[in-house]
Order: sequence, then C-alpha cells, then structure tokens
Amino acid sequence: MKVKFVTHTGEVFEIEATPGLSLMQVASSEAVPGIVAECGGVLSCATCHVHVDAEWFDKLPPVSKTEEGMLEYAAEPHPRGRLSCQIKITEALDGLSVVLPENQ
Ligand code: FES
Repeated sequence: MKVKFVTHTGEVFEIEATPGLSLMQVASSEAVPGIVAECGGVLSCATCHVHVDAEWFDKLPPVSKTEEGMLEYAAEPHPRGRLSCQIKITEALDGLSVVLPENQ
C-alpha cells in the first residue's frame, strides 16, 4: 500500500507504507522533505503538520484533544490540518494523500 506526500512546490513522493507505522514515520524513513518531527512523535511539537486532501480528511481517526491543542501551534494552520505522527497507517488508508506546508 502507498501514501502520497506533495511538497509545497508540487514535488510528489509516493511511498510504500507499512501498516502500524505513523504517517510521520513513513515520511521520515524515506527522508521526505518538509516533515521535521522535532519531538519524535510524542505530540509536543507540531512540526509534523500536514494538510490532508479533502477526500481523505473524514476517513482519518478523529483528532484527540491533545492533538487539537498542538495544532494551534502549527506554523501554517489549515482547516484540514493534522499532525502526521498521530495518523496510524492502516490498510484503509491505502492511497492517502497529504500536502506538506512550506514551514513547520
Ligand atoms: S512529531 Fe512532534 S507532534 Fe508530531
């Protein structure tokens, strides 16, 4: 199964994703530019922020209160913004597509 990252300049990275990993871990393992993930995935940095494509946004698990709080610190807030360390890859997310903000 694959997930797709599109950078703010339009560069596309289609990456093989292993279920069980987070979307942030998938991006980091392939050195996708634009994900900083300063805190390593413990929900205390908001530098793994992504803008989720409209067709996928409602298919993701709901935002926790903690993630909601951290999203307020995102450099480029977006109505479909999520923290990629909180998106666990499942088979149901095959084809997931997100855009990476210019700044984290
Ligand atoms: S990596 Fe820090 S909040 Fe996601």
